Parts: sequence; structure tokens; C-alpha cells
Amino acid sequence: MWIELDGLREAAASRQIAALFDADESRAQEFSLKTDGLLFDYSKTSIDADAKEALIRLAEAAGVAAKRTAMFVGEKINVTEDRSVLHTALRNLDDEALVVDGQDVLPEVRETRARMAKLASAVRDGSFPGNGKRITDVVNIGIGGSDLGPLMAVMALEPYADGPKCHFISNVDGADATDTLAGLDPESTLVIVASKTFTTQETLMNARTVLSWAGGQDALGRFVAISSAVDKCAEFGISAERVFGFEDWVGGRYSVWGPIGFSLMLALGPKAFESFLEGGQAMDRHFYDAPFEKNLPVLLALVGIWHQQVCGHATRAVLPYEQRLARLPAYLQQLEMESNGKGVALDGARLDRVAGPVVWGEPGTNGQHAFYQLIHQGQQVVPCEFMVGAEGHEPALGEHHRALVANCLAQSEALLKGRTEAEARAQLEAKGVSGAKLDQLAKHRVFEGNRPSTTLVYPSLTPYVLGQIVAMYEHRVFVEGVIYGINSYDQWGVELGKELANGLVPAMEGKGAPAGSSASTLALLDHILGMRE
Ligand code: F6P
Repeated sequence: MWIELDGLREAAASRQIAALFDADESRAQEFSLKTDGLLFDYSKTSIDADAKEALIRLAEAAGVAAKRTAMFVGEKINVTEDRSVLHTALRNLDDEALVVDGQDVLPEVRETRARMAKLASAVRDGSFPGNGKRITDVVNIGIGGSDLGPLMAVMALEPYADGPKCHFISNVDGADATDTLAGLDPESTLVIVASKTFTTQETLMNARTVLSWAGGQDALGRFVAISSAVDKCAEFGISAERVFGFEDWVGGRYSVWGPIGFSLMLALGPKAFESFLEGGQAMDRHFYDAPFEKNLPVLLALVGIWHQQVCGHATRAVLPYEQRLARLPAYLQQLEMESNGKGVALDGARLDRVAGPVVWGEPGTNGQHAFYQLIHQGQQVVPCEFMVGAEGHEPALGEHHRALVANCLAQSEALLKGRTEAEARAQLEAKGVSGAKLDQLAKHRVFEGNRPSTTLVYPSLTPYVLGQIVAMYEHRVFVEGVIYGINSYDQWGVELGKELANGLVPAMEGKGAPAGSSASTLALLDHILGMRE
């Protein structure tokens, strides 16, 4: 399956992206895609027409189309957990049925969403809790997928937020709860305990701490629980009318579309939340229907495969030129790395190639004044994924937005073109530098260029657009996972550390380290316990 693509490696290594533009006047149009208000430009990569065709053939050979159908209709493609993968059902706003295992799964999704909307509206209009203070603040306690999705989305959609202010506690470090709760009034704070399993150590510890801050059992009337394990929510003491369940066919990192997104619904209101779902569903339709060569998530995935498998780039940077997408890179780190950071294929055989790159990033323009040095001149090539809105939400600060977009475009241009030594010398000479100093300085001012990037342009960051973007990345992960032949929907790699941490908690209470602990861990423990005495 990979032979054709592997055969392109050598040619790709010597290819100059700028030369591709010289050879093809319409490259910018041919290697970009416009759909539903989005423009995805991948012309500043070393993918040429042959490479594009080979990549598409790779996706076909991997069976992406058949597996895509299997996912949407609810086949149990999460084979190691024997589960369907149906987060798309959470944003399915159609009237039709979606029958899985002989049962239509959509009525329950709709009913839960309606219950969420009812409570969210009551909180927002002040009729909840009724006999107490009006809710002004919401604290979402959760971690991983039960935190990053709503946190990222609440921050992204701040201009649409007209409800209570949302805060997030995730870290088991007591600093997180302490700093988040400082200044909040328990009587006007709604607490959401969000945990798919309702067994996560960090979340339950934080939930107990916040319950005690809120006033103990009497405060449970202002607690909401979100989980697949609704029985455990009852054990915690949260009344059934404020428990929102979801099925185990929603993976944690894919769960922002349902009850886990309750804080987003509280912040924006049910209508705008639905607009977020509409954006996600529109991307689902596009992903399902569009031919591969015009399919945004498929192309995004193939660019990722190209960079990692053909060009050998081990990381990719997500660089939103949108301050409110500050947590998108962290969200994508979980989405992509927990999904595709795998070492074995579906059948358990060891993969013969590395699946899933390291994903990282920060909003531009801040990154420019920090790590872009390495991106421009470091020896490691980092494919950059820029994204920017054509418009911002601050019309009074149009100057800022123009500068923001200019910076975004300038970076991809600089990465593409670079600067030769001759150009560097000419620039220095124009400033009056000459002789040995000129020889010395010019080399430091060379930019090799030929560094790949993609740019996603969206109209402006609305709930609908955010829905499109998040669903686009979800499907990219799916396509890459299918091509690598892995299960993108389990996460066994997080288990070992959790088990060992459970064993080390008693050790931190001085009860002795678990048998078989390494000499290093024993020494570290000893040192820490000694310092704490
Ligand atoms: O440990 C990883 C993980 O299981 C993630 O997959 C998940 O999003 C997170 O922990 C939180 O899990 P839960 O929602 O069950 O508390």
C-alpha cells in the first residue's frame, strides 16, 4: 500500500516548493479547496500533482470510504473496547433515525439535549435555583476530554457568551482549585462534575474539594453531573434531574458536542450551542459526500501523512492567528496524540512506521516572538498549520486585525521563500556593513526557506465555524488512523501511569513504595519525603 508513496521520497526531498509555483500558474487554486466558507490552502507544501494522486490512491487502498461509512452507521470500529464511534450522532440534527444494534440512538440524544437546554435556560434567566442567589459563575470540574473541549470552545466563543462566567478546574494540583475558586461565591456558583467514567482520580478529588468549599451536602442542589456512568453520579449525591448521561460510543476527546459541552451551552445559550453543532454536522456531510480530492478532512490528513511519512517531519505546529483559539493546540494534542499515538495495528501487530506526529502550537503572533526562530532557521523542519479569520470581532480595532492577518501571511511566505546569502549580504551592505563583519553576519541571516505550511482561512470565528473546524480535525484523525491501520478510539497508553500513581499515593503517606519500584523512583520519593518532614 505504501510502495508508491515511499517511492516519491527521494524526489520530494530535493523538490523546491517555490519551483512548483513557477511551473504552475494555477497552483494556488489547484492545491487549495473552498468549501462552505472555508479556504484550505496546501499549495505551500511539496505535494505536486503526482504526489496528490498517490496520496489519494493511498486513502482509497486503505479503505477510508468503507470505514467512514462504518463509523457513521455505528459499526463497532473501536475494536479493543467493542464500541461504536458515534460522536457524530451528538451533532446529528436531522429527523431521521440512526439505528444501532436494533435501536434508534437519536431520540435519547435529543432528549438529553432538550433537558440540558431547559436547565441552561433556567440558569441563564435566573429561575434556577429559584430560592437562592442567581447563578453568576459556573465551575466545570473535569480533565482531558472532559475539560479541554469545553474550555477551548468557551474561550473561542467569548464574543457570543452572554451567560454565567465559566471557569475550569482540571489539575489535581490543589493550586488549580484554589486559584479558580478564589473570589467566587459558592451560593451563586453552579458546579459541573464532568467525567465520562466518573472514576478519574483528579476529577473526583477536585469534586470533593469543591463540594466542601460549596458547603457540603447542602450544596449538592447546585451540582450537575455529566457522565456515562449515571449510577456513580447518584452515589456522589447528585440528583437525577441534574445528571446528563451519554453513551460509551462517545470517546472522551470527542465529547464536546454533547453533555460535556454543557458549560458551553450555559455560556452561549442553547441556540448558539446548536449553531456549533450545525457547523459540526455540515462538516460531517462534507466529509461523507465529497470526493477525496475535494474533501477537506481527507486532504488535511493526506498532507499530514505526506509530511510525516514521505518528508520525515516528526512534529507539526498548529498556529491559530486568533487569540481566542489559544487552547486549540492543547485540545488538538489530546485529539490527535491520544487517538493516533499508537504502536500497534488493529490486529495487534507492531507498526512498521511511526503513526501520529507530535502536535504542538500557540497562537500567532506570540509564537513569532518565541519559538519561530527554530521554525525558520532550526535544522528540524516543522510543517506549520496556520489558521486565521478574514474578520475579527473587534471592528473598533480593525488595525489590530489587519496586522494579525498580515503577520499570518508573512510567516507562510517567509517559510516558503526564505532568504539567500546573496540577499542577506545585499541587505547588510545597504545598511553600510562591509568586510569581515559582512562575511560573519550574512550567514546568520540566511533562511533556507522551502519550509512547508498550510493555511486555513475562515470568515470569522462564529459557533458554526468552530463546529466546522473541530469536526474537520476529528475526521482528519479518523482518516490518518485508517491509513495507519490503527484504532484511533482507545487510549490504553494512559493506563500504566494511572495504575502506578495509585500505588504511589500510599507511598506519599509514608506507607512504603510499591514492590518493584526502580531505584530512581525510590530515591526521588525518599528525597521528597525527607524535604516534607
Ligand atoms: O486518562 C485519559 C482519559 O481517559 C481521557 O481519554 C479522558 O478524556 C480523560 O481521561 C478523562 O476521563 P473521564 O472523562 O472519564 O474523567
